[in-house]
Amino acid sequence: MHSEITSLREEAENAIRTVTDARGIDEFRVRFLARKGSIAALFDRLKTAAPEDRPALGKMLNELRSAVQQMLDEKSGAIQAPASGEAAPADLSLPGRRGFIGSKHPLTQTLDEIRAIFVSMGFGVADGPEIEDDYHNFEALNFPPDHPARDMQDTFFLGPRALLRTHTSPVQIRVMEEHQPPLRVIMPGKVYRNEAISARSYCMFHQVEGLCVDRGVTFAELKGTLIEFITRYYGAGLKFRFRPTFFPFTEPSADIYISCFICGGKGCRLCKQSGWLEILGCGMVDPNVFRSVGYDPEVYTGYAFGMGIDRIAMLRHGIDDIRLFFDNDIRFLNQFRQ
Ligand code: DAH
Repeated sequence: MHSEITSLREEAENAIRTVTDARGIDEFRVRFLARKGSIAALFDRLKTAAPEDRPALGKMLNELRSAVQQMLDEKSGAIQAPASGEAAPADLSLPGRRGFIGSKHPLTQTLDEIRAIFVSMGFGVADGPEIEDDYHNFEALNFPPDHPARDMQDTFFLGPRALLRTHTSPVQIRVMEEHQPPLRVIMPGKVYRNEAISARSYCMFHQVEGLCVDRGVTFAELKGTLIEFITRYYGAGLKFRFRPTFFPFTEPSADIYISCFICGGKGCRLCKQSGWLEILGCGMVDPNVFRSVGYDPEVYTGYAFGMGIDRIAMLRHGIDDIRLFFDNDIRFLNQFRQ
């Protein structure tokens, strides 16, 4: 039995060298160390050995068992923790980690839709500076100095000559200064007003300006174009209301209302029980505006319009607080994933 113990040890030493993976570890353990393995078989035979030999053989067998156990432990340590620098074996059974992909801000989505409709009707897209001068923001748009219409807007002044534009209308002036008619262009962008911040107004918001100038442009063309836009953006079957109003840069001027698309005109919370929603301002370009850019108002006519993107997105999605757009709260933004 003595020689069997010695040769079993050699056998184990040879066997462990060929083990390279978890499966080999298991086979080795079953073969030598399990309850029905070869070491256990030798322990069983200890009972049949001569009583005087048993203590020495028992000691040898115990040593063999711990030596083989040690071989196994070392090997499984080496397989599980490969030498530094080698990549750990991938555990293909682990669940994957979901990557986070951002999405377009709801205001960007709204502008994308508005822009696509106007582009399909032949409008180009232009932009201009957010830091403006008094001339482009007011004077060239027919707001004379001390004209009460300037009080309509609460301007952030940056110094005696610079201000944050209060609307996108100055981009009309910049486009006309650079280009001759015919013109058909929309001008989206940020605008700033020094107003108390509340659920309904913020110190910065977004507008889309529109301008069309050519020979013989009439109010009928304004109506046709804007009704086409509104029908495509809000859906067919709405009623329209053009209400006369005043803007210094257009004459005549109108605010366009649509029948409330939530209640169909019966009156609800969104339309404040009126049945109507105001969605944009528009009018025929005032001859004084043409004069300030060097266009001859006897030759050219045109229409202009302006709408608030934030307001349109709020109406569309039933959002009741404009500040939600600017908090960047992921729980809000996630509701607009496309
Ligand atoms: N600039 C106006 C505003 O901020 C919006 C507007 C109204 C623009 C009528 C226009 C227009 O071009 O024709 O309230």
